[in-house]
Amino acid sequence: MEFKYILIEKLATDGVGIIRLNRPKELNALNRDVIGEIGSALTILENENEIRCVILTGNERAFAAGADIKEMAEMTSVNMIEADMFSRWEIIRKFKKPLIAAVSGFALGGGCELAMLCDMIIASDTAQFGQPEIKIGVIPGAGGTQRLTRAIGRRMAMELILTGRFISAEEAKKLGLVNRVVPAELYMDEAMKLAKEISGMPPLAVKLAKECVLKAEEMDFDEGLLIERKNFYLLFSSNDQKEGMNAFIEKRKPEWKGN
Ligand code: CAA
Repeated sequence: MEFKYILIEKLATDGVGIIRLNRPKELNALNRDVIGEIGSALTILENENEIRCVILTGNERAFAAGADIKEMAEMTSVNMIEADMFSRWEIIRKFKKPLIAAVSGFALGGGCELAMLCDMIIASDTAQFGQPEIKIGVIPGAGGTQRLTRAIGRRMAMELILTGRFISAEEAKKLGLVNRVVPAELYMDEAMKLAKEISGMPPLAVKLAKECVLKAEEMDFDEGLLIERKNFYLLFSSNDQKEGMNAFIEKRKPEWKGN
C-alpha cells in the first residue's frame, strides 16, 4: 500500500513496527488523510503476527503540531458533521497491540491527543505538549478534554486547556503524562528498547492486559474487575500460559507460541 504522509517500517526480527509521520514542512499537521493513513497502517500491522508492538513517531522538530488548521479554517459545522472529522481516529483507539508514542518537539492540539491515544509515551527532552486550541477559538476535539483530564487531573488539565500553555517534557513527566524523558538523541532508541521488551512477552497476554488497562478508564470498577477476571481465566486455555508456568517451574526460559 502506498502512503503519502507516513512511512512504515517493519522490524520483524524485533517484533516492532514503526509508523513515522512524514509531513515535515507542516510540522506533521494532522489532516484527515494523515489520520486515515495512520489507521490503514495500523490495520496492516494488526494483521501481521510477527509485529507485536508499534511505535508512532514524527521527526526531531515535531511529533505533530495539531490538526491541520488550514484544512479546517473555512469549514462549517455542517461540513464537520458531513466529513465526520474525528471518526477516523477511532481505528487508532481500537488498535489491539501496544502502541508507543516516541515524541520529539511539538505535540500540540491533535498531536498531543494522538500521543495520548497511544499506550505509552517516550519523550525527548525537547518535547513540548499542549492543547492550544483555545488560542484559535476552539477546544480540543479529538479527546483532549477527556484524556488529559484523566492523565493529569482536573485542575492541571483545566489550566492547560484554558490557557493553551505548552509544557516541557520534564513537566509532562512530573504530571504523569509521559513515561520517560531522555536526551533528544536517544528517544527513538529508548522507544525501541521498550517496544522490544514488550514484543518479547506472550502476545495473547499482552493483548488482554492492554484491553483490561484501557477498560479501567472507560468502565466502572466492578465491570472492570469482571473483564480482568474473565481475561485471566481465558488465558488458561492458551498454550503460552502452560508454557510460561512450566518454564518457571522447570527454571528455563519460556518459548512463546502466541496461542
Ligand atoms: N495546521 C496547519 N499548519 C501548521 C500547523 C497546524 N496545526 N502547525 C504548524 N503549521 C505550519 C505553519 O503554518 C507553517 O507553514 P508555512 O511555512 O507554510 O507558513 C509551518 O507549519 C511551520 O510552522 P511555524 O512557521 O508556525 O513554526 P514555528 O516554529 O514558528 O511555530 C508552532 C511552531 C508553535 C507549533 C506553531 O506552528 C503553532 O502554533 N502551530 C499551531 C498549533 C496549534 O494551534 N495546534 C492545534 C490545532 S487545532 C486541533 O488540533 C484541534 C483538535 O483538537 C484535533
